[in-house]
Amino acid sequence: MEIQEQQAIRTTLQVPVRARWIIDIDHEEEIGEAIAFARSHNVPWLVLGEGSNVLFRGAGVLPVAILHLRMQTIRVLADGVQPLVQVAAGYRWHQFVEWTVAAGLWGIENLALIPGNVGAAPVQNIGAYGVELQDVLWSVRAYDTVAEQMVELTPEDCQFGYRNSVFKQHPDRWIITEITVQLSRSPKPQLQYPDLAALRERSSLTPREVMETIIRIRRRKLPDPQRLPNAGSFFKNPVLPRSRWEQLRQKFPSMPGYPLPSGQVKIPAAWLIETCGWKGRRIGNAGISPNHAAIVVNYGVASGDEIVSLVERIQDSVFRTFGILLEPEVRIL
Ligand code: FAD
Ligand code: EPU
Repeated sequence: MEIQEQQAIRTTLQVPVRARWIIDIDHEEEIGEAIAFARSHNVPWLVLGEGSNVLFRGAGVLPVAILHLRMQTIRVLADGVQPLVQVAAGYRWHQFVEWTVAAGLWGIENLALIPGNVGAAPVQNIGAYGVELQDVLWSVRAYDTVAEQMVELTPEDCQFGYRNSVFKQHPDRWIITEITVQLSRSPKPQLQYPDLAALRERSSLTPREVMETIIRIRRRKLPDPQRLPNAGSFFKNPVLPRSRWEQLRQKFPSMPGYPLPSGQVKIPAAWLIETCGWKGRRIGNAGISPNHAAIVVNYGVASGDEIVSLVERIQDSVFRTFGILLEPEVRIL
């Protein structure tokens, strides 16, 4: 365990804040010690991966102990047609996708290029292009800060939903150290997403070809946080009862909606925001990407508060136009 004081907190929105303590953890046995350290200094702890789904308000040195998990092992637990692969929390998610694709395994190729670490993936049940982590998740290993011991959670325990899980509902209770996924050696392409229609014509496909297509699509649509700091979709796509969507369509006939198995309809937040005229707008140092209306960007030196004030203006404007309250996907701290 390595403890540093007053270091910058790295997030992809790049707001300039520092933490009272940053603790690097290399073994799960050190987690209890790190929590005890935070408690003895009367500061809350917060596990962070790449900081690609968080926004810190405030400025200067925040009274918090940031925990970075650096464990990076991958193990194949059970081989065969549907191997179980266990991967540690500190591994970069995209690097793990590349590892599975290199091994010829199907399952998470659609989730390529999502920033962040493996440990954060169950927190919001990461999803893209018709696949969610819950489709392959076998188990989660975590430190339970209430029971003060390591526990194994089943997919049912995780209570996954769209951008939701028990970890999101009870932040800071569990510190995820490893996940196990079940992948497949036999072809299982997931091509229902409209952007992947061209691949449906192909008579044979590899997971690598699907991954490369996803990478091309994502590079075209999403700003690279290294060049233009952002946290991906800032808002969740609202889910409405079908009757409410049909009502809205009478007034806004071009409003898109994707029917869900539950009978509800998912509306793209980006469409609501663009229709309210926010796409590409900039207020001070914060703005909305000119390429994608759900992505809030930092033009370099915006503070967390400046970004939150833009977010609130957008929520207000969407609410006044459509009566829909946009819920942030990003965790605001
Ligand atoms: P962080 O931002 O560091 O943390 C996020 C939350 O998880 C925090 O509450 C944190 O406390 C908690 N957490 C982190 N690690 C652990 C752990 N080990 N144990 C317990 N809690 C933990 N998301 C999608 O679902 N689909 C996308 O397509 C997608 N595209 C994106 C594109 C861009 C350009 C960006 C910037 C973000 C995108 N995201 C997407 C959001 C983000 O990449 C994911 O939510 C990712 O899983 C966050 O990983 P992270 O390591 O950065 O987590
Ligand atoms: N749209 C607009 N204006 C825009 C962009 C999009 O009107 O500027 C409308 C279009 O109708 C488009 C629709 O929104 O067809 C959907 O856009 P897109 O395919 O880009 O997907 P999204 O709904 O904005 C979601 C996820 C992404 C994920 C993609 C691909 C959420 C909140 N976002 O975005 O996840 O990568 O689908 O599956 O569910 C993230 O969570 O950070 C993230 C990037």
